[in-house]
Amino acid sequence: MKNIDSKNHVTGKSVYVDDIPVQTGTLYGAVFGSPKAHGKIINIDFSEAESLEGVEGIFSYKDIQGRNQIGGIIEDEPLFAENEVHFIGQPVAFVVAKNEIAARKAIKRIKIDIEEFEVITDPRVAQEKGQLLTPPRTFKMGNVDDEWAKCDYIFEGKVESGGQEHLYIETQGSYAYPTDNGSIKIHSSTQGATLVQKIAARILDLPMHRIEVDVTRIGGGFGGKEDQATPYACMAALASYILQKPVKISLHRLDDMQMTGKRHPYSSDFKIGLSKDYKILAYQASLYQNGGAANDLSPAIIGRTLFHSTNAYFIPNTEVTAYSCKTNLPPNTAFRGFGAPQGMFVIESAIAKAASELNISKRTIQERNFIQENDTFQYGQIAENVNIGHCYQTAKKTYHIDKIEKDIEEFNSKNTNYKKGMAIMPICFGISFTKTPMNQARALVHIYQDGSVGISTGAVEMGQGVNTKLIQVAASVFSINTNRIKIESTNTTRVANTSPTAASSGADLNGNALRIACNSLLERLVKTAAKILSCDVSEVRIENETLVHKNKKTDILWEQLVKTAFLDRISLTENGHYATPIIHFDKTKEKGHPFAYHVYGTAIITVTLDCIRGIYEFDDVKIVHDFGNSMNTIIDNGQVEGGLVQGIGWMTMEELAFAEDGRLLSNSLSTYKVPDIYSVPKNIDITALKTKGPELALLRSKAIGEPPLMYGIGAYFALAKSISAFNSNYKLDFDAPLTPEKVLMRLYGK
Ligand code: MTE
Ligand code: HPA
Ligand code: MOS
Repeated sequence: MKNIDSKNHVTGKSVYVDDIPVQTGTLYGAVFGSPKAHGKIINIDFSEAESLEGVEGIFSYKDIQGRNQIGGIIEDEPLFAENEVHFIGQPVAFVVAKNEIAARKAIKRIKIDIEEFEVITDPRVAQEKGQLLTPPRTFKMGNVDDEWAKCDYIFEGKVESGGQEHLYIETQGSYAYPTDNGSIKIHSSTQGATLVQKIAARILDLPMHRIEVDVTRIGGGFGGKEDQATPYACMAALASYILQKPVKISLHRLDDMQMTGKRHPYSSDFKIGLSKDYKILAYQASLYQNGGAANDLSPAIIGRTLFHSTNAYFIPNTEVTAYSCKTNLPPNTAFRGFGAPQGMFVIESAIAKAASELNISKRTIQERNFIQENDTFQYGQIAENVNIGHCYQTAKKTYHIDKIEKDIEEFNSKNTNYKKGMAIMPICFGISFTKTPMNQARALVHIYQDGSVGISTGAVEMGQGVNTKLIQVAASVFSINTNRIKIESTNTTRVANTSPTAASSGADLNGNALRIACNSLLERLVKTAAKILSCDVSEVRIENETLVHKNKKTDILWEQLVKTAFLDRISLTENGHYATPIIHFDKTKEKGHPFAYHVYGTAIITVTLDCIRGIYEFDDVKIVHDFGNSMNTIIDNGQVEGGLVQGIGWMTMEELAFAEDGRLLSNSLSTYKVPDIYSVPKNIDITALKTKGPELALLRSKAIGEPPLMYGIGAYFALAKSISAFNSNYKLDFDAPLTPEKVLMRLYGK
């Protein structure tokens, strides 16, 4: 089935927050953000801004009836700064005016005096000063201290990985208006409708039932709208509630880039120990996460970094400690992979370092250490249905890795100005929210009298195709045509207490809730059918919109069946609830069974480097991916391609630059380079591993949203290889993104 949104997306008909027709009297908001990264607010003067024509109100913390607190996991972030500011762009006030131009003009007339404090942007400096957002966490297995003595080789090193701007096409935005009886409705470009509802209730001091949050779709989220859509929704809601008028806010790109958090940069140290035959015996690492000025999702993200810090390898002795460091940058947040890519880059770097020092191919170490059936993950979960070896062996056979290596060697021996490099990138990614209670979902299904079906769930469509998959679920349970089924907007009044659409679990959780609801409706309809045919329920089923009796088609169609059930006063509405079974985790021991299953895969990435200019092109990416039994290969392949390119961007192009005073220098698309169509690998080939898929995946089709991003990590190592082929003095280092400038320096470094 094709993505149901494709046509409207390319013809510009899909509706986003900024496309919602506005009510008369709608006011427009703009955010006044702190001009300084750290300091005490001495004085703030709104008078000049207030007197500007068209300005209807300026709101600050003083106008909040409820609590000035938007922190989700840890309550450490005000909606509006009170006495202190902690990052440039931190919201201090919200101006609403008759039009956006007036609101933005007013922002410039606000005067603020700030007594400046020391600005910290480096996580290691923050850690040294004891500025941690949460206490450090350590994942441990075996005993590294005893193991070092048994290792034949030990290597140490340092790894840097940069942040990443989400660059969703639709910027953060919200439209809020008062409804009957002191209630309020909020349209928000959010991945988490319930979170917006909950925090808005806290800010406005209202019960949650007075706040309705509605999301038709969002123009990309990539994690950037899991938590960080909330403040803009709250600001619009606050102004709207106080003024009793509709209020809209839609951030300009520059403001969005300056104010919102990004992927966490990490700085790390590793130590890796191997035996003579290249078995990794011990691995120790310290990871310093640059959390920004408040927790946001950092505690959960640091968890996932730890869960995936040994990627697809079994290492009997590990000890990995992660520090979440408080700096004066916007609070960093969820970004596709949720901390796992940063952890995986460190272990891959450690393996690359060992390989380079031992003068062997990196893949020699990789292939000897893949996790196997019944091995234990560091966090206590026993590995089941492990497919990493299977993916790698399939890749080796299908794509002839030996030949690729040979061809590259030959190319490099014949060319002086161009060099090629190759890397293998295996992935292993756990599916489920690492916080067990979040793994639940609900669905509400109506079958209307005419046989059409309306579905509401907690899933937010953000381009990943979840709505299309939901239609497939209902169509397959009822055995009806997909065009009978409509997915309604995600709405907190219809489906309550939802988890954000994140952790790649949107389809699994909401799809299973939907399957449960549809199955109970089906049971009722089958009873009606048995009544019509005067037979036992076991003798009837619906197939292709037609009732089938004892394997023979009848002339009774779906529409007639539904109508009969309705006249018989059978309820045609059902609510489904799903909670992932089995999973649990004990944070005091850092052990448990946190994931429903794991997604595996292997990518082979090759690059050609122009050694005069330092620019490069990725030639081929060949992937063997474990989709399980993919329910939609078009959508799933699209997720692999998109994730891969986003990962390559993070590793090789996208470079965030902050000045010492905490100002984001790369705050526009002229200074922050993202992959475009020319930087997409020339050839991407995807092979689906043949498996029947796990029971806990929706229709045995594995989650696909995040795992492919980590294939992009291979781009770093392919590129580093091509540099080595040109400059034998180049000492492998790990400092992502490996931009063309950095490549050039390394090509000619002594
Ligand atoms: N694909 C598109 N087109 N746009 C997005 O914003 N977000 C990614 C991934 N794929 C995203 C996307 C992230 S971070 C996640 S967690 C999943 O989609 C969320 O959707 P799912 O759980 O339904 O896979
Ligand atoms: N992934 C994404 N978002 C989350 C998670 C997770 O594991 N845990 C809490 N929020
Ligand atoms: Mo995705 S980072 O879990 O929204």
